[in-house]
Amino acid sequence: MIPPPMLPACWTNLSNAPTAPLNAIMPVYCAYWNAFLMAAKRTDKVTLRDSKMSPNTGQNAVQLNAVSKSYQQGKIAVKALHQVSLTIPPGTFTAVMGASGSGKSTLLHLIGGLTTPSSGEVILFGQPIHDLDDNRLTRFRREQVGLIFQAFNLLPTMSALENVCLPLLIQGKPLREARIQAAELLERVGLSSRASHRPDELSGGQQQRVAVARALINAAPLLLADEPTGNLDSKSGEEVLSLIASLVREQGRTVMMVTHDAKAAAHADQIIQLSDGQIIPDPSRDGRN
Ligand SMILES: Nc1ncnc2c1ncn2[C@@H]1O[C@H](COP(=O)(O)OP(=O)(O)OP(=O)(O)O)[C@@H](O)[C@H]1O
Ligand SMILES: [Mg+2]
Repeated sequence: MIPPPMLPACWTNLSNAPTAPLNAIMPVYCAYWNAFLMAAKRTDKVTLRDSKMSPNTGQNAVQLNAVSKSYQQGKIAVKALHQVSLTIPPGTFTAVMGASGSGKSTLLHLIGGLTTPSSGEVILFGQPIHDLDDNRLTRFRREQVGLIFQAFNLLPTMSALENVCLPLLIQGKPLREARIQAAELLERVGLSSRASHRPDELSGGQQQRVAVARALINAAPLLLADEPTGNLDSKSGEEVLSLIASLVREQGRTVMMVTHDAKAAAHADQIIQLSDGQIIPDPSRDGRN
């Protein structure tokens, strides 16, 4: 299947007002991307929004009740997480730390609904997600969760600005509004001058910053980030972390971030330490996690 074509260059120029015909072709464009990504067996499915699921308010952002996750490797079951219970209040910034293989990514994947627990309950904003069917889970995730992972996929034929715009266009926001918000976020991650560049014209660190901006543009209340600054130099990493921290403070977003870096974790309000798939109790948290 032929990759979808690059969008017209004029779309990346904010001085060009969007036109109705351009807005009209977006559903077709997204549908083509869907088919292309499905054909390539990619997981970052582009789907048009059909209805809205609102989270209950006044709940914990994240609640895990005795969650375990095992992976079957041949005849051996690998226990990635064992009986993990935790609560994350909304509007807080949590760092997840631990040795390689301790279960950090598995924890984020479970919370992000990218994988299902072997047992236990995963509840986001009062909504149990462990037993949602695929369609409802996809919709919930799209609207409630922003994801930044180490192995992110920017769409290769789209510019940085178009990549950042996409979540809003999929939600049906007008192109002009999406471009303005995307441009603001690219400026905040220091990439204004690269807005019209395609991913293969950007350094690894720059691509990662575009991915951060793309995850942030969705107004999702929960942002999950797995080593978001892993490929950035310390100055760029610090800028991205400050941006994420400011979103928690200014917009009340809830952030969970996996990191190996104690300096990065210092931006967080609390740190969860994992060891061999279990949370190491923190005496200062009085047994709450
Ligand atoms: N898809 C999978 N199939 C089998 N085992 C897996 C799978 N994903 C993770 N595991 C195993 O589960 C355990 C936890 O993995 P996980 O990726 O969550 O660790 P991590 O703390 O994120 O490590 P790192 O810091 O290296 O990224 C490891 O023993 C890993 O080998
Ligand atoms: Mg990991």
